[in-house]
Amino acid sequence: MAAKHKTSLWHLLCRAGVSYRQGSCYSSRYVAVPKVLQGQGQSSRVPRRDTHTLRPDVGASYRELYDTSVQDPDTFWGSIARDRLLWSKAFTQVQNCDITQGRISWFLGGQLNVSENCLDLHARRNADRVALIWERDEPGTELNITYGELLETTCRLANTLKRYGVQKGDRVAIYMPVSPMAVAAMLACARIGAVHTVVFAGFSAEALSGRIQDAQCKAVITCNQGVRGGRVIELKKTVDVAVKTCPTVRQVFVAQRTDTRVPMGRLDVQLEEEMAKESPECKPVPLDSEDMLFMLYTSGSTGKPKGIVHTQAGYLLYAALTHQYVFNYQQGDVFGCVADIGWVTGHSYVVYGPLCNGATTVLFESTPIYPDPGRYWETVQRLRINQFYGAPTAIRLLLKYGEDWVNKYDRSSLKTLGSVGEPINHEAWEWFYNVVGEGKCPLVDTWWQTETGGICISPRPSEEGAEILPAMAMRPFFGVQPALMDEEGNTLAGNDVNGALCLSQPWPGMARTIYGDHQRFVDAYFKPYPGHYFTGDGAYRSKEGYYQITGRMDDVINISGHRLGTAEIEDALDEHPDVPETAVVGIPHDLKGEAAFAFVVLKDNVSLSHSNIHKELKALVSSKIAKYAVPDDFLIVKRLPKTRSGKIMRRVLRKIAMDQTGDLGDVTTLDDPSVITEIVDVYNQYKSLSPKS
Ligand code: WTA
Repeated sequence: MAAKHKTSLWHLLCRAGVSYRQGSCYSSRYVAVPKVLQGQGQSSRVPRRDTHTLRPDVGASYRELYDTSVQDPDTFWGSIARDRLLWSKAFTQVQNCDITQGRISWFLGGQLNVSENCLDLHARRNADRVALIWERDEPGTELNITYGELLETTCRLANTLKRYGVQKGDRVAIYMPVSPMAVAAMLACARIGAVHTVVFAGFSAEALSGRIQDAQCKAVITCNQGVRGGRVIELKKTVDVAVKTCPTVRQVFVAQRTDTRVPMGRLDVQLEEEMAKESPECKPVPLDSEDMLFMLYTSGSTGKPKGIVHTQAGYLLYAALTHQYVFNYQQGDVFGCVADIGWVTGHSYVVYGPLCNGATTVLFESTPIYPDPGRYWETVQRLRINQFYGAPTAIRLLLKYGEDWVNKYDRSSLKTLGSVGEPINHEAWEWFYNVVGEGKCPLVDTWWQTETGGICISPRPSEEGAEILPAMAMRPFFGVQPALMDEEGNTLAGNDVNGALCLSQPWPGMARTIYGDHQRFVDAYFKPYPGHYFTGDGAYRSKEGYYQITGRMDDVINISGHRLGTAEIEDALDEHPDVPETAVVGIPHDLKGEAAFAFVVLKDNVSLSHSNIHKELKALVSSKIAKYAVPDDFLIVKRLPKTRSGKIMRRVLRKIAMDQTGDLGDVTTLDDPSVITEIVDVYNQYKSLSPKS
């Protein structure tokens, strides 16, 4: 590929007068930056150089690198991919994408193994470097796992899976707490080319079984029990119920998180015992760049969660690069992302990004308030965490407990703070920045999605010393080209505009398809604005040209940073025999960001005084989805507001649920506008009875 490009990029960078600061934290290895972009045409099986070579946030380089990344993505991504990843076979084409068709392929012809990049490479250099710090539920009981140990565990687990017939391309569900065994399970799948789908261990048996069925998983890996916030969670029991309706599952591998013995059935295999019989070595299988790495279910605007598919090289590269530059991760740092591995944040910034960079990454098993609201900061002090990455919902909760819980602990190790998953309000941002970070650490509000694979908009990287404005994601990452669209589908030019947030050009980390339903993928993301990827979010571009996410534009809500389709909750409620129809809307909530509010229609012959209905509806949602999905409010109404074409007018319901009945907007298209007075009356009655509102 194009020596010409390499040269011109090199010249571009030289002309821009990119300077590389040297000093204690900017060691001489950073001087090699432009070489990274020159591309070394690295031959196969040659270990890549040290990963910490690109410093775009120094001098004039962010702008220059950003411009190159969007104007000449092939040169940019091609040279970085060659440099940063260990390839078994060099790729021959950087990309072959046509986003109007939802066709996305990167690094074609190349082969590599993700687990080799995340483990062997670092273990070869220094097997004793700590890969994982498992911050277990009980404070002070953390365990360090070195790269050597994680590699061995992964190999034994991979060999066990192979012995039980798991092969390349097979899907494996992982239903485990945040733990080294869960990370080894993910990497073991990656090692043999199996596809993992991690299901958040708070999901119900029915939600788990739905995902296993959709993915047609051959095996499930779980634990006997989980432990969180001092409470035991019966994971294996949930799996037992789930797999009853999953004929494709041949084995359930059960690891021991606690000493409790749980009943073992026909499908069950005691994982550690089997691993002990295996060799500590397992050759990584070279996989095509576009072979599937994992799928992760997430909510859309219909009732059925979608299995978002990510592939090997592009995902890994993007996770690693964003991990390094957004957080200014440097070798030797302890990276603390407190997300659960059941969400994409756990995939990209607990596991794949940090491990690809040879980092020490924290696995946080507990909760922000166990055993008390000082838990995060006590952990920061004890583990000397350098980057702390968490969710606004936890910050909002903690700020209510006051500053003493923070000030008690030494946070001088902190260098960067990060926020993810939902909009962060100003109060939470200021508290996180000023109280936790004492105004000394950059706080990055990072916007991205399960579908984007990694962070797409965040204040860093940027020019050295560039401003960070509170509660704003601000700047696109390399290769990401945001566009805002108006209602007619035109791209909005200029600043100080609001529109639908699209990304106009493919980047290596983006999702490739929805498992088993490529058409849904095309329809959801590429049809609404042809030629662009539509995020489902709205955004504002400020006068200065910075991006601020304004929230979802579809029927997806965000409860405590967890994405949920209102249709999923409605589907669960509609299963009640007395409930013909429901409508669920999201309304703002102080702590959770958003909460679900359910409008429920009962059958004519069901008495409103039927006292158990609320309890039954709550139990239904909890058993069909998860506890966090249970609506905070249920309002029993006679009928729902519908347009003449039969569509429920949710925006009116949202206004009512938010107590903004004075301003319901245009209701002329309603079939029978008198329904509004009916519902408002019931709402006012409900409000007067409910102490909360
Ligand atoms: C929302 C989580 C505002 C957004 C990584 C997006 C955010 C959805 C932010 C994806 C942020 C995520 N500011 N909103 N910094 N980060 N979101 O797939 O609505 O669980 O579309 O990925 O969360 O949620 P997901």
